[in-house]
Amino acid sequence: MALTPQAFQFVSDFVRREAAIVLEPGKEYLVESRLAPVARKAGFPTLDAFLDHIRTAPKSSPLFYQIVDALTTNETLFFRDHHPFEALKKDILPQLIESRKGVRKLSIWSAASSTGQEAYSLAMLIRDQFPQIASWNVRILGTDLSTTVLDQAKSGSYSQLEVNRGLPAPMLIKYFDKVDGRWVIKEDLRKMCEFRAMNLTTPWPMMQPFDLIFIRNVLIYFDTATKQGILKRMKTVLLPHGSLFLGTAETTINLDPEWVPVKAGNTTVFRVGGAAAATGASAGATKAA
Ligand SMILES: C[S@@+](CC[C@H](N)C(=O)[O-])C[C@H]1O[C@@H](n2cnc3c(N)ncnc32)[C@H](O)[C@@H]1O
Repeated sequence: MALTPQAFQFVSDFVRREAAIVLEPGKEYLVESRLAPVARKAGFPTLDAFLDHIRTAPKSSPLFYQIVDALTTNETLFFRDHHPFEALKKDILPQLIESRKGVRKLSIWSAASSTGQEAYSLAMLIRDQFPQIASWNVRILGTDLSTTVLDQAKSGSYSQLEVNRGLPAPMLIKYFDKVDGRWVIKEDLRKMCEFRAMNLTTPWPMMQPFDLIFIRNVLIYFDTATKQGILKRMKTVLLPHGSLFLGTAETTINLDPEWVPVKAGNTTVFRVGGAAAATGASAGATKAA
């Protein structure tokens, strides 16, 4: 199912408008490989025939959503990149727990959560390393544009291949049950996490501010103005002592000077106006150059 230049342009304009996803020329193969199954499933002989239909389809057609859903990249794994979780364990969470002991509450946002591995990694880390807060109100919110990935996140059910990626064996044994050949997160951890559909590029619902925000490996798909808009809004939903985590290939530098990179262990987090100094941050956390 080869794609004409016009059809590629149509798809890239559409996903840019709907989800701010930028498809540069050269990504034709990606569009073809992701949309061919959608076209086939909808009963069209070619991708062009499918896109011709889409051009005139009513706005309410579920096929529009299926196109955006198919073109999101949902790659994720448990404890992705390791260092952010080490920094949380050794540095950021001990301080956060100390500063929140009056309210006994922690709220964390996994924005662009995909199938939920990031949110559940956070839940496992907190349960495993900080038993002293077992009775606190700890809420982890996962949001994503794609309802397909959110369905899996909500179910907390993973294949053998998925749990082989990043999840230490003792954690698998401790926090998952094997059900019909899949690994299902235990109920008390699943209850710490809530998953909701949300497009980061359209107006956000009212949200309680968070102690920690993870928005990793999604800004890379957006253009500069979209990244700036999201980083600006993130400041309004992060508590003053809070930390923002980005993907290893992402930064706030040259996008928003109010976010200050702060070294924490072998990772870098971002705080508003250098809030690290105000909270005393970690002994090892110094402002990155
Ligand atoms: C590569 S995954 C990253 C998952 C996880 N944060 C991680 O780092 O492992 C990117 C996710 O961003 C989501 N996404 C893409 N555009 C989005 C948007 N405009 N609003 C919300 N989520 C979006 C995709 O559906 C996908 O699940």
